[in-house]
Amino acid sequence: MFYPALRLRRLRNNQTIRDMVCETSFSLSNLIMPYFVIAGENKKNAIGSMPGIYRYSIDLLVEEVKKYSALGVKAVILFGVGEEKDDVASRAYAEDGLIPNAVTALKNALPEVFVITDVCLCEYTSHGHCGLVLNDCIDNDKTIELLGASALAHVRAGADMVAPSDMMDGRVGYIRQALDEECFTNIPILSYSAKYASNFYGPFRDAADCAPKFGDRRSYQMDFRNSAEALREVSQDLEEGADIVMVKPALSYLDVIYRVKAESKMPVCAYNVSGEYSMVKAASQNSWLDEKKTTVEILTSIKRAGADLIITYHANELARWIKDGSVSI
Ligand code: PBG
Repeated sequence: MFYPALRLRRLRNNQTIRDMVCETSFSLSNLIMPYFVIAGENKKNAIGSMPGIYRYSIDLLVEEVKKYSALGVKAVILFGVGEEKDDVASRAYAEDGLIPNAVTALKNALPEVFVITDVCLCEYTSHGHCGLVLNDCIDNDKTIELLGASALAHVRAGADMVAPSDMMDGRVGYIRQALDEECFTNIPILSYSAKYASNFYGPFRDAADCAPKFGDRRSYQMDFRNSAEALREVSQDLEEGADIVMVKPALSYLDVIYRVKAESKMPVCAYNVSGEYSMVKAASQNSWLDEKKTTVEILTSIKRAGADLIITYHANELARWIKDGSVSI
């Protein structure tokens, strides 16, 4: 049937009918807020390249998470910053490390908040790589032993889920076995399965002080020209025991999110990364974009592509906008 009998504009006539036929929506329960944690007390450091995002000492972290969980942001992912760095990333798996301490403090104060920890070595190695460097190469198999130790330290402290972000082969299986051996069989693994070697991580590397001191991450993170390879990464992680798979970054990779969701049939998480956040901030600070509307459009598009969960630096702000009535989702 053709125009004039068929008029697609009829279902766009007013907000009510648009809402009735809308195909995609998301809620705060789909969002995960990232936090950068530092040592000390009463510390809140701004991050120049990420307006609105701070590094918090544990006491202020607890206050912040409390405030926003009351507004509906119930899941957080933690990154440790500023710990002593060495060649073997000792502080990544120290039982008295920043992240284990932050997890314990959060779970004691706010047991209902879901605490996820990023498991990687790059914040703790002197060279800034995500793995151990031996003879100028990243040693895969020695690295995964340390990642297993790191995941265990986080889970012993009370973490609800661990998220390995290093892109070593076999790390999901290694971590799964390490957790199971200590009877943490019910702790899920959110795997950064399809993590690309991306330019959009720039602001994060400032925030977490983890830029590699030599070379780059292309010998372990994925080549952005590939997407079938993302499916191989996902199926391998699932065979090794991943519970949720992640695509990262999100916006330049919506096709990958779509394929991973369609083919894996598993819960999919997308990471709306630092560079994506900072672009929106920079443009809106110049009044080139409407930040609130753009943010809702971006998060909806990531959901529409197939993501069930989204890690986004906009989670807390969005909760505030919803609370003050300036945004509805
Ligand atoms: C650590 C890690 C990175 C990000 C999350 N975990 C940095 C990297 O791989 O270089 C990036 C997150 C972001 O840009 O928001 N491996």
